[in-house]
Amino acid sequence: MLLPKKTTISLIKCDVGSLAGHHVVPKPLFKIAEKNMENAAAQGIINNYFVFNAGDDLELLMLHEKGEQNPIVHKLAWNTFKEAADKALDLKLYGAGQDLLKSAFSGNVCGMGPGVAEMEIEERGADPIVVFAADKTSAGSFNYPLFRMFADPMNTAGLVIDPHMLCGFKFDVVDTIENKVITLKCPEETYELLALIGTVGRYAVSRIRRADDDLICASSSVSKLSLIAGKYVGKDDPVMITRAQHGLPAVGEILAPFMQTYFVMGWMRGSHWGPLMPVGLKDSRCTAFDGPPRIVALGLQVSNGRIASDDEGKPMIADLFDDPAFALAREEAVKEGNTLRRMGEFEPARLGPEEMEYTTIQTVLKKLDKRFTTLKGQE
Ligand code: 13P
Ligand code: 13P
Ligand code: MG
Ligand code: MG
Repeated sequence: MLLPKKTTISLIKCDVGSLAGHHVVPKPLFKIAEKNMENAAAQGIINNYFVFNAGDDLELLMLHEKGEQNPIVHKLAWNTFKEAADKALDLKLYGAGQDLLKSAFSGNVCGMGPGVAEMEIEERGADPIVVFAADKTSAGSFNYPLFRMFADPMNTAGLVIDPHMLCGFKFDVVDTIENKVITLKCPEETYELLALIGTVGRYAVSRIRRADDDLICASSSVSKLSLIAGKYVGKDDPVMITRAQHGLPAVGEILAPFMQTYFVMGWMRGSHWGPLMPVGLKDSRCTAFDGPPRIVALGLQVSNGRIASDDEGKPMIADLFDDPAFALAREEAVKEGNTLRRMGEFEPARLGPEEMEYTTIQTVLKKLDKRFTTLKGQE
């Protein structure tokens, strides 16, 4: 039997260095990424691509037919990041090669620093995709919107209205501390799912499938750089791919959770809570207190192994948050960010002690350790 042809969407990202602190990916690094992607497409390694940035993270969106975790595609991403990091070093950009945690490539980039979301699909008649990339935040930050998209009928009308969605969705949840995974099915296990994924610093939704036919509909990066490196080395700004329409949430339902802001971990030094701000690519750069944390959403159609392209062969990309419909969420993010910043280094503006364990504050605490004396009467 002839196996159906499959298309792979790979979104691989890395902080290779930034202009002016942890602010934005500058042009020369984009140029390197574009050149490498162009060459790879010419050689048939990938079919087509789109390069963009989420703040200081360089994002490579690649379409191909090689499957997930493919060593050739991952090596292409790794070499591209390496070359861009060398350029960043030359230019004395900030944090050059920040996320390249290992010196040699060993088959795939998972666990080496870069963040990865991949999805292999059998193309439907029309397959709308939304990819997300966020900066100054961390794995687990997509738990809340993913729950709203695929399990909350108050967000996604399709869960009530579309007969193809009544079967519900299965969530793969990764325990990032113990490296375990569990699958929970909604609506039956909604409360159990929430019990886990509400702990965003530990549990992260990695994949979602439609319950009746296992159709893959979401995939997100779950790596935590501090757990890979054993110390704080910058935040694992996450990426995700979602699939929409025709028995899945509509694109509008996928975007609806971002009509309001919500709080994520990873602002300033990866040590603070911050309100997530949905922005268009033109505003995909972090400023105030290195933020507020930002997220971009790009829409596309997959077509015969490629991002559907215009007459000139340019991939057609919809910059979905570049829209006044998200102005209120942006305003909320600025206002709520201001409220948090008034609190300075006091919780809940700063992360709780379990999360601070993975930051440089450990050095400060160690320094003070010997100066603690026992309270009188407690000897
Ligand atoms: P589909 O069922 O074709 O995805 O359309 C849903 C819809 O009407 C979106 O608003
Ligand atoms: P990035 O992980 O985006 O480099 O941010 C580091 C940081 O903590 C900036 O305040
Ligand atoms: Mg950085
Ligand atoms: Mg970043």
